[in-house]
Amino acid sequence: MNPQQAEIVKKSFPRVLAGTLSATQVLYDKLFELAPDTKELFKNTSMERQSQMLISAIGRLVKSIDNWDAVKPDLQALAKRHAGYGLSPEHFVYFGHAFIHMLKSMYKNEWNNDLEEAWKAVYQKISEVMIGTLFENK
Ligand code: HEM
Repeated sequence: MNPQQAEIVKKSFPRVLAGTLSATQVLYDKLFELAPDTKELFKNTSMERQSQMLISAIGRLVKSIDNWDAVKPDLQALAKRHAGYGLSPEHFVYFGHAFIHMLKSMYKNEWNNDLEEAWKAVYQKISEVMIGTLFENK
């Protein structure tokens, strides 16, 4: 992630907040399509609350995007809270695709390569830390 990508993601985020619930519905629908086994993980989950928690977690990460070292412990803690859910590293790949799919659906024609690369770079960093914490004992 370079500084321009950090800037693009920061500017992009208010738009993300605006359509939280319908957007995250798009994300989870896509996730369940790509990885049907993940549906089971959310069978007792209030998706409304889950949507809010997901977007506010992403919001906190974006807010501290210029100070990644400060974010890392929070991300590691978040990853540890996922330990009991029965996730595999592949789930993070599908979740990443579903996440980008959600952003595309919000931006429609305004979606562009810079946005895609910037968000992918950020998701890459997030999932690296989470996968590292969950599966590699880092
Ligand atoms: C960028 C990656 C991810 C972020 C930021 C994220 C964020 C969150 C947050 C904020 C919560 C609420 C509980 C808490 O704070 O501990 C949560 C719960 C959960 N997440 Fe994630 N998550 C991510 C990836 C995934 C993936 C890849 C899966 C599986 C496909 C997953 C499955 C779940 C499940 C099953 C719950 C519990 C739902 C419940 O309470 O019933 N998460 N996640």
